[in-house]
Amino acid sequence: MPSIADQLSAALGDAFASLELPRELGRVTPSKQNPEVFPFQCNGAMPAAKQAKTNPRELAGKLVEFLHGLPQIGAAEIAGPGFINLRPAEHLYSERAAEIAADERAGADVVETPRKVMIDFGGPNVAKPMHVGHLRSSVLGDSLQRLFRFRGDEVVSDIHLGDWGLQMGHLITELEDEQPDLPYFDAAITDGYPSEPPVDIEDLARLYPQASAKAKSDEARLERSRAATAELQAGRPGYRALLKHFIDVSVAALKKDFGALGVHFDLWKGESDADPLIPGLVEDFKARGVAEESDGAWVVRVAREGDKKELAPLILVSKTGAALYGTTDLATILDRKQTIGPDLTLYVVDLAQSDHFEQVFRAAEKAGLAAEGALEHVKFGTVNGKDGKRLRTRDGGTFRLADLISSAIQRADERLKEAGLAADVGAEEHDRVARMVGLAAIKFADLQNYRTTNYVFDLDRFTSFEGKTGPYLLYAAVRVKSLMRRAEEAGVKPGSIQADAAEERDLVLSLDAFGAALDQACENRAPNTICDHAFTLAQAFSKFYSACPILSAEDDVVKASRLALAQATLKQLELCLHLLGMEAPERM
Ligand code: ARG
Repeated sequence: MPSIADQLSAALGDAFASLELPRELGRVTPSKQNPEVFPFQCNGAMPAAKQAKTNPRELAGKLVEFLHGLPQIGAAEIAGPGFINLRPAEHLYSERAAEIAADERAGADVVETPRKVMIDFGGPNVAKPMHVGHLRSSVLGDSLQRLFRFRGDEVVSDIHLGDWGLQMGHLITELEDEQPDLPYFDAAITDGYPSEPPVDIEDLARLYPQASAKAKSDEARLERSRAATAELQAGRPGYRALLKHFIDVSVAALKKDFGALGVHFDLWKGESDADPLIPGLVEDFKARGVAEESDGAWVVRVAREGDKKELAPLILVSKTGAALYGTTDLATILDRKQTIGPDLTLYVVDLAQSDHFEQVFRAAEKAGLAAEGALEHVKFGTVNGKDGKRLRTRDGGTFRLADLISSAIQRADERLKEAGLAADVGAEEHDRVARMVGLAAIKFADLQNYRTTNYVFDLDRFTSFEGKTGPYLLYAAVRVKSLMRRAEEAGVKPGSIQADAAEERDLVLSLDAFGAALDQACENRAPNTICDHAFTLAQAFSKFYSACPILSAEDDVVKASRLALAQATLKQLELCLHLLGMEAPERM
């Protein structure tokens, strides 16, 4: 059964069609004025009147006349210059509520034609600590993969590890300075390297910044790292063997970190995996004239007539013969085309890389690697400090992801203690709850804004149990869970739903809007509409809960009906939380 909103839209569409006007004008929207009496409105009469050169109120009158007597319509009236206010027929509330209650998808449809959607997100760099930009990419990318999957698309996610740049040369040379006797550095040795890695994650975390700091002030040191990177890329066996160790060590640590965040990737590929495809790709681009020579380098010209700002050519091969970031991205597109064949690829990456992706996408299209519109940069803005500037540590450094997360969990723990929550569940469970609340706090704070919006990192606000926050939503879900437990103990079972009270109807309409929120989130590649929906739903439940007694209701039929409404709400709320990468505890 379509949503109530869609059923009304269809009725209005018929009304427009009866006057030989476009059906699309019949789309109804939730109304803000007087929603208790008329929860929906349709504004199509105004543009239609313009089109038909008639008076909008008159036209609205004809539409309303058509509506009278239709089974979906409870009431319809004209307001102002030609708005149509609408109330659904009584029976729709209980019918739709029953359907949502019985549906494991809580009323959200699957997409008609599923697509294969590749999502490239996370993008941490081997040996470089993850920072807050990687947090945004991870949280947003993970929610997007959940949304698309839930909606019925086939999703393949890839972490696309940064394991192929100068940082590898830094690591190799810095390790050589510390342990020159390792076999990897002896050019005469070409195989039989130890299978145990010569470094652990702490070593990597130390070696990279050490080398990068030296290279900043010492040109010769930088040159050594560059040369090592080039040798690595050219295939020097000892360096390749080291690279493999570095990647393995990093991936093991990253798997733990991402696991703790609740973020999953189908593929753990890296830039280096695309390397074998590069020589062939470069030859092909040269042969077909996609790439041209320029100052000793090979470039793909991507500027187009009418561009507002000049887009530099993509450098495929540098003067020194090195493949660059854009080259790896192109080779990765080729790899994915050959092995996966996605209809759509979403790159969940910082706004600052907009030009890079524009270059890569245009080059890929020019070379026929991807159809127009099949590659999309899902951009996001910055996380700022209270000064409105990019979030920095006290000494001006970039914030480590691990520190951000642990501070959120710690703040959540304090909040729980302040509020006397999760107090008698045992220490271990208390910690688990604090973790859930802390993660929900940062994830929700990130996702609730449209992604290109910059936001201020404010743990006090994020971890509050009041207002539009992750913890508020968890608490709302926990309240319903506890109600469901008490109902079970009292032997009360959910029954058929009758939505008579205003708060009950309002709750049904909130539940009804889930599918539209999901569609919009997928459409915009932005989960903020799910955040809004979950918040509205939790608020509607809260009003319902205080106005409509459940377990203490006198009438058993009413009791069972209200309990069923609560159960449906919990199901949908938990689905929303899941889509946002959050999880509610059983109690707190
Ligand atoms: N490793 C990159 C960074 O830290 C992000 C990778 C984004 N994905 C891509 N296909 N280029 O900035």
